[in-house]
Amino acid sequence: MQHPFRNLQYRNASDAGRVRRRVVALAAALLLTACGDSTAGLFGEALYERSCAGCHLADGSGAGGPAVGPGSDSVELTDEQLVGAIRVGPGSMPGFRRFSDEQVESLVVYLRELQAR
Ligand code: HEC
Repeated sequence: MQHPFRNLQYRNASDAGRVRRRVVALAAALLLTACGDSTAGLFGEALYERSCAGCHLADGSGAGGPAVGPGSDSVELTDEQLVGAIRVGPGSMPGFRRFSDEQVESLVVYLRELQAR
């Protein structure tokens, strides 16, 4: 019986090495995608840009979500209310419960910075 994969035999040792390296790289990429939290280690501006700017825009002027920058209603919210909004997610905003306390605090600090611009 013919081996079904006989055409896939490596031409030489360096081919085999290249294929093996490619398989290892692919496995590592899959593992990172499955286990990696793309916001881990991000704080302040970097975290805001990754997780919030899509709806509130980089300058806080708001797109899908309301403005959270200068002159917005968020200026009147207490820090605790900002923390609550980030954790719970009011209305159609998703809640960010997986963020550490330090990450949420860094977002509040960054929102205050944005609002002061
Ligand atoms: C998918 C879009 C979306 C994302 C992502 C998002 N928000 Fe929101 N956000 C909203 C919407 C919509 C509201 C208004 C919800 C309501 O009150 O009905 C809101 C409300 C808020 C409010 C309260 C504003 C107010 O005037 O009461 C704050 C503060 C806020 N978001 C901050 C953030 C921060 C910080 C992040 C990132 C961690 C974030 N949002 C991510 C859509 C989003």
